[in-house]
Amino acid sequence: MSREELTKFILPEDKIPKFWYNVQADMPNPLEPGLNPKTHEPLAPSDLEPIFARELIMQEVSTERYIEIPEPVRQLYKQYRPSPLFRARNLEKAIGTDCHIYYKYEGVSPVGSHKLNSSLPQVFFNKQQGIKRITTETGAGQWGTALSLACKHFGIEAMIYMVKVSFTQKPYRRSIMELYGGTCVASPSTLTESGRKELEKNPDTPGTLAIAISEAVEDALKRDDTNYSLGSVLNHVCLHQSVIGQEARMQMEMADDYPDIIIGCCGGGSNFAGIAFPFIPDKLAGKNIRLIGVEPAACPTMTKGVFAYDYGDSSGYTPIMKMYTLGHGFTPSGIHAGGLRYHGESPLVSQLYHDGLLEAVAVKQNPTFEAAVLFARTESIVPAPESAHAIRVAIDEALKAKQEGVKKTILFNLSGHGQLDLYSYDRYLSGDTEDVEFSDKELQESLKDLPRI
Ligand SMILES: Cc1ncc(COP(=O)(O)O)c(C=O)c1O
Repeated sequence: MSREELTKFILPEDKIPKFWYNVQADMPNPLEPGLNPKTHEPLAPSDLEPIFARELIMQEVSTERYIEIPEPVRQLYKQYRPSPLFRARNLEKAIGTDCHIYYKYEGVSPVGSHKLNSSLPQVFFNKQQGIKRITTETGAGQWGTALSLACKHFGIEAMIYMVKVSFTQKPYRRSIMELYGGTCVASPSTLTESGRKELEKNPDTPGTLAIAISEAVEDALKRDDTNYSLGSVLNHVCLHQSVIGQEARMQMEMADDYPDIIIGCCGGGSNFAGIAFPFIPDKLAGKNIRLIGVEPAACPTMTKGVFAYDYGDSSGYTPIMKMYTLGHGFTPSGIHAGGLRYHGESPLVSQLYHDGLLEAVAVKQNPTFEAAVLFARTESIVPAPESAHAIRVAIDEALKAKQEGVKKTILFNLSGHGQLDLYSYDRYLSGDTEDVEFSDKELQESLKDLPRI
């Protein structure tokens, strides 16, 4: 069969990358330093040691272009990597485009999303250091599931604080976390001071990722045998996700094609970083390639936020990072893409966006679900509501190209499947999904609490 007729591009196991790609080696402007939350002084690695494994702290600040993937992690990657790249032939037909649309499908991982790419190495490095227990937050539940499974593989206890609105909407996510041996509680919880404070302020709060992070960090700070793990935002998470884009590069070569546009949805930014960063060297070398991050209109961090120093959590336990932010106290409305309800954006994505190497677009819930349903009915995969944001913009870009009479090659990351998001699909299909946007007045209010640096 000729390449033009192929629908899926499958790499053999020995093509799983042996190194992660570190964009910090190639950035035109380096990151501003993270700051200690108490002193506001630049962070020393020792400031992070109470909650992070040493090896992960080294990765956080490394400017080496390639960092070796440990063999035990590669062995576990083999259960689901390399992930397939598909040409979306039926979707192309349905929208009548001459564009080539490809998607990298991360939903084939046993937990259903890209999150396992980072939970495996994070738990591995903690295990190496003798850590016995790891705490974390989870939004939609995908990260909590990935951490729970990785902890089971390496024999570590997992404690997961899950944002309350998702805990209620997605009960089976909790079931999977528990099946893998983790413990999962709704956040805010009564187990931590941060949780109790939030509940006092507003007993009916839907919770936010920022609150769940405060709870998980507070828990980890209290115990010597416990570290904290973050599923997105940080440099080392973006680093681990680079396996996605590295494989996609090889698969695009197999297809004898090259993307003009690369798209990923953005919560904390890690899956977008994963697909886009390995193409940055080409862009810097002059390739005409657009890299677009897609966020929800209800939580438009890059498109409406400010590039400023802010906390990663609601209570101010985390380092202060220079990033696009809506303010750490911002409570996004309870949209169905729970994994995108985060006030900040990864410092790496933020800096590269600020420098004009990345673009950002915000989309509303209803058109996003409309794209998700069309995708399910043509490509057969039920996408996660988060990933559907990338689908929406892939379709929009193809339709724009049609109007302009040009042909583009579009690649997007399908970061996860949505088989545990059926509550959200039911609501959409019964016409019960609101298009909530974020007003300028609300933004000014939440930005008042940015730390003064
Ligand atoms: C399927 C899926 N995609 C994307 C995201 C957003 O995270 P990130 O921006 O770090 O990729 C999440 C987060 O929970 C998710 O579950």
